[in-house]
This record gives sequence, structure tokens and C-alpha cells, in this order.
Amino acid sequence: MSAQLFTPFQLGGLTVPNRVVVSPMCQYAATDGVPGDWHLVHLGQFAMSGPGTVFVEATGVEPNGRITHGCTGLYDDACEQAFSRIISFMKSVSDVRVGIQLSHAGRKGSTVAPWEGGGLIEGDGAWVTDAPSAVPYLPGWPEPRAMDDAALKRVRDAFVDAARRADRAGFDLIELHVAHGYLLHQFLSPITNRRQDQYGGSLENRMRYPLEVFKAVRDAFSSDKPVAVRLSATDWIDGGWDVTGSLAFSQALKDAGCAMIDVTSGGLDQRQEITTGPGYQVGFAETIRREVGMPVMAVGQITDPIQAETIVATGQADLVALARGMLWDPRWTWKAAVALRAEIALPAPYARCNPALAATPFVKRS
Ligand SMILES: Cc1cc2nc3c(=O)[nH]c(=O)nc-3n(C[C@H](O)[C@H](O)[C@H](O)COP(=O)(O)O)c2cc1C
Repeated sequence: MSAQLFTPFQLGGLTVPNRVVVSPMCQYAATDGVPGDWHLVHLGQFAMSGPGTVFVEATGVEPNGRITHGCTGLYDDACEQAFSRIISFMKSVSDVRVGIQLSHAGRKGSTVAPWEGGGLIEGDGAWVTDAPSAVPYLPGWPEPRAMDDAALKRVRDAFVDAARRADRAGFDLIELHVAHGYLLHQFLSPITNRRQDQYGGSLENRMRYPLEVFKAVRDAFSSDKPVAVRLSATDWIDGGWDVTGSLAFSQALKDAGCAMIDVTSGGLDQRQEITTGPGYQVGFAETIRREVGMPVMAVGQITDPIQAETIVATGQADLVALARGMLWDPRWTWKAAVALRAEIALPAPYARCNPALAATPFVKRS
């Protein structure tokens, strides 16, 4: 039987050519939110190398929704045009599907890049962050501003505007970032959400704002294009967000037209206690897929082609995403195809690199 990893998959109205996905990865290399040549090469190399889908990094829907000043944004024409150029290139070299992760950093914003320590911006350029409640991310950090009705509307509208821009720029799908402790995840977790209004307290109330944003984004993006959600399945902290909540949230998202859950974990609070290892988050994806009956993507220390194939072939997940493994070896997908004896189309100028990959070369359709 041929490798399941290299079979197409139907994600709502979108057919993805295979199950390999490049996970969103912040590059901290944009200027005023605008992706540049770094992103063209970074994303372009992946497009040339065989994954069915490539996700653009967490992209702020407003300037203060970015994590750092180097994060990409999708809040003005310059951002939109720059993404449009990158997508055109990616689609000229392969049959790849291109997604964007739309995000708001909430209380984790106003920081510097990881290689500068990842701490708060000091002095000029720092901003007051937004959050469901005035609970800082770390002791000693300034309190974020608890969002009032105007702030809730402003951010929801920013997500809608970014979704329209994503559509026009040519993205095939959107992933809403509800993970890793960013704003929408902050609403879900009782650790960060201490609100006493209709957006806090019960599970239903904590899910309300992320669901409102999802529905608004879903409405704003072409109906034939999928909208997915990246979800942290657990905070890995007693009393935090957990799998029970994730199942309820996934069900509500499914009912609202969500095409897929990208299942990750953690990132909300540094007290988290995680035991990592190969495929350590796959079980969460499998649980959501089985209990809710919707497509899921697994991510986290998936590095080996047989491991990836097993995840798909045994029905643990429909798609597998790699992050660090793709930075380490952008040609991972070609090598996985050789290892699994699958056919894969290479860009025509590269088609002679390995006789084992003698499939029909990809030639741009006019
Ligand atoms: C350089 C880098 C940047 C990342 N940026 C993002 C991001 O923008 N959005 C996100 O949801 N996860 C981000 N992640 C997490 C990855 O998408 C992925 O979930 C995580 O690294 C686990 O997968 P892996 O073991 O294949 O690296 C990032 C990871 C890395 C290594």
C-alpha cells in the first residue's frame, strides 16, 4: 500500500496535496509588520521542497497584537502586498497550499526576540498589552490592560480585517492562534481569565470571545477556503485549561464551521510541567479526532518519516506538522518520500537531483 503521508486530504473546500505541513514559525525579521526577502527565501525554500501546506508565522492582526517589533502583521496595505508577492512565488514553484496563522499576542506582547533574551522591551517602543484580565505573564512584568467592550470590538474587527486581507493576498487557509498563551488562549484559561462578565467564569463564558472571533473570521474569509484553529490542549497546570475544555471548545468550533484543529499544548504559564518526547502531543490530537470527529493536525517532536506515516496511517491525525525538523532539513519532505517510496513532484530545475525522485517535475501552470 502506498504511503498515507503522501495522499491528498480534503480540508473543507480545499484539497491539500499531501499530509506534510510546515508549522508556523516566528522569524522576528519583519519591518513594521511587513515580511521581506528573508520571508521570501524562508517560505520559498519550503514551498520548493514538497510539503502539502506551509503556514506563515503568528501574524499580528494589529501592531500591538505582535509579540515583538520584528513579527509580521496583516493590518495594512504594505503587509498585504508583501504577502501577496511571497505567495505568488511559492505557488510558482510548487502545488503548495499556503496558510497564515492570525494572532494577537495579548499579555505576551511587547517583548524582544528570543535571541535578545525574549524579555520586555525597555523604554521606547514598549506598549501596554491587552488581556482578558490584568494578570501579568511573569512576576515583575507590568499589568496588562483588562479589555473593555471597546477593546473587545477593536480586536475582533482587526481579526476580520486581517482575514479579508489574507483572502485578497491569496492565502488558501487561515489558522486562528488560540494556543501557546496568546490572547485567545488567555480567554480560555481560568489562570489568565478572571473576568466576571459574560466572557469569564464558566467554561461557556471563557469560550465565548474566542468563538466570537472564530465566527467573525469564518464569515470574513471566502466560504470555500478553510479556517482552522491552533489549540493548546492543556496548560499542563492543575486548575488550568485542560483536555475536557479542549473537547468542548473543539465541538463548538466544529459546529461553527472550523475545518481542523491543530493540536499543541502549553505556553500559557511558566509553571507548566511538561514531559516531552517524540510525538508527545499526538495523543491529544487523537483524542479530539476520535471524540469530536473532525480533522486534526498533530505537532511536536515529529521528526521521522515512519513516525509521521504511522500517525496518519493509524488514524491518530490527518495531517502532521513539523517546525524545528523543517528548519534543520527543509528537504525533509523529499527524503520522507524516498524513505516511504512515494512519488513527489520536484520543481523542474531540481528534478535531476535524485533518480529515486524521478516523478513528473512541477511546471508552473500558466
Ligand atoms: C523558530 C520557531 C518559531 C515558532 N513560532 C511559532 C508561531 O509563530 N506560532 C506557533 O503557533 N508556534 C510557533 N512555534 C512552535 C512550532 O510551530 C511547533 O508547534 C513546535 O516547535 C513543536 O514542533 P517541532 O517539535 O516540530 O518543532 C515556533 C517554533 C519554532 C522552533
